[in-house]
Amino acid sequence: MAARLGRPLVEVAGVPLPASTVDNWSQIHNFEAKPDDLLICTYPKSGTTWIQEIVDMIEQDGDEMKCQRSIIQLRHPFIEWAQPPQPSARNAKDCMVSYYHFQRMNKKLPDPGTWEEYFETFVNGKVAWGSWFDHVRGWWDMRDRYQVLFLFYEDIKRDPKQEIQKVMQFMGKNLEEAVLDKIVQQTSFEKMKENPLVNRSTVPKSHMDLTVSSFMRKGTVGDWKNYFTVAQNERFEEIYREKMKGTSICFCLEL
Ligand code: A3P
Repeated sequence: MAARLGRPLVEVAGVPLPASTVDNWSQIHNFEAKPDDLLICTYPKSGTTWIQEIVDMIEQDGDEMKCQRSIIQLRHPFIEWAQPPQPSARNAKDCMVSYYHFQRMNKKLPDPGTWEEYFETFVNGKVAWGSWFDHVRGWWDMRDRYQVLFLFYEDIKRDPKQEIQKVMQFMGKNLEEAVLDKIVQQTSFEKMKENPLVNRSTVPKSHMDLTVSSFMRKGTVGDWKNYFTVAQNERFEEIYREKMKGTSICFCLEL
């Protein structure tokens, strides 16, 4: 098995984080947004890169040449890395599958072990950036108190134009129909998979080994059915009911 480059995860307030993030924690914790800053807040593997590209395309009025000015990690730096960068909500089951494959190929994160082992790590919130349940519940409860646009990966997949239009309105932009159509096309999975500025093909193999699993892996809803056993699914449903008790959020698990 290839060596892992990262140090073990370190917990901050119960959330496991990469050690390099914790090294810079006071700087990250003290980050102050300006009134017109736009923060993209996602649980890992929920379509961060997708929404980043959509936001940039809207910001640049659909001009793809301007979106080619640099790799996505430089256009929208991750504040939690707080160092030169080298990141909606998505249903937990597909997210778990995507994260599992991401950890297989990302040598800076802990080895995920077998799928059975990873299932336990994920439901117990012991993955980098913590529990999916806490993240989603936290932002869902917050959505009416602040200027938050809550988006679902599955909705963007089902009707990209409608969801891109929501982002556009949230950003206070008014783009023509033709520009919107172009953004839908440019941010499709097929286009983004081939785009070196977003598909992580520029990241050194020692960090992300895309021969193990691509960053733009499948981009679908319902891949979890290829991984979850019947028993795992039953157990997951039970855990989900318990952890998400009392919340009105509803996820789509297949299209
Ligand atoms: P899969 O591993 O299920 O394919 P993040 O950017 O938060 O790390 O999320 C990565 C996931 O979003 C991957 O899921 C990736 O394929 C998917 N994704 C990225 N761009 C997409 C697009 N344009 N359309 C659909 N899915 C996309």
